[in-house]
Amino acid sequence: MIVAKEPVAPGHYRMRLTCDWESAEPGQFLHLWLPECRDPLLRRPYTVYRLRDGHLDILFQVVGEGTALLAERSPGDVVRVLGPLGNGFSMPPAGSTPYVVGGGVGMASLHLLVERLIEGGFSPRVLIGARSTGYVLCRDDLDALGVTPDISTNDGSEGYHGFVTDLLQTRLERDPAGSPVIYTCGPTPMMAAVAKIAAQREIDCQVALENRMGCALGVCLGCVVPIRSESGVGYQRVCTEGPVFDARTVEWGYRV
Ligand SMILES: Cc1cc2nc3c(=O)[nH]c(=O)nc-3n(C[C@H](O)[C@H](O)[C@H](O)COP(=O)(O)OP(=O)(O)OC[C@H]3O[C@@H](n4cnc5c(N)ncnc54)[C@H](O)[C@@H]3O)c2cc1C
Ligand code: FES
Repeated sequence: MIVAKEPVAPGHYRMRLTCDWESAEPGQFLHLWLPECRDPLLRRPYTVYRLRDGHLDILFQVVGEGTALLAERSPGDVVRVLGPLGNGFSMPPAGSTPYVVGGGVGMASLHLLVERLIEGGFSPRVLIGARSTGYVLCRDDLDALGVTPDISTNDGSEGYHGFVTDLLQTRLERDPAGSPVIYTCGPTPMMAAVAKIAAQREIDCQVALENRMGCALGVCLGCVVPIRSESGVGYQRVCTEGPVFDARTVEWGYRV
């Protein structure tokens, strides 16, 4: 059941659901269906934003029919949830410095990671890229965790004027941390650029892919991506082998 819903930016909502899951890894997702809704019939995937005290939060952006219908729902309305699904982020080795790089609503997939990194004794550096200051997501929740993110905006209305990938380059050069590891989620070209920076600097990087999904259970193959392995390039399912992948293995050309 929906217990709370609040706008966090134009066209973006944070929604709290009752949920009996005991735990979920950062990066894992749920598949959500509006029970009385026959059009669209398909469930939609959302990453677990926060999970505690019998409640699960999601943070979502309205982009089409399914998310628009969800945004119209109110506390007291019932939704059906399947999960936790997929393989989430792996924790970094002890002593490393995590850089968490989110673009737009990609921050929805990274908040639980930041929470768990802090619980694990790490001091994550969080970099957020947004189109302008009103679209910087998660600020209040990061603040509650004691994290002040570095901000970049496309229009220069706050923080660094430009792409978050340029901000990442600058931070890695001017403020180098011991044993960096990178975690990222956002638009595909942004993730591809982050992956390139990580590869050039030989930094481990995990990416959370957000391909369109059908079943989310590994059956329909609607979500496959080309992934490189020792035996060559093969297709893997974002819903079951992912959504988190080692950035070095992703064939970025498929959507960039
Ligand atoms: C594992 C996973 C986790 C996700 N977590 C979140 C989350 O926490 N918060 C959030 O806001 N969104 C998240 N998404 C994306 C979200 O699922 C889609 O935005 C949603 O399914 C769109 O449904 P719709 O019916 O509103 O849009 P549709 O009517 O299906 O599509 C509207 C437009 O959005 C585009 N679109 C739809 N889905 C995607 C997608 N996955 N990637 C890129 N473009 C898309 C379509 O091409 C179309 O242009 C996640 C996706 C995946 C796979
Ligand atoms: S969505 Fe059906 S196999 Fe992944």
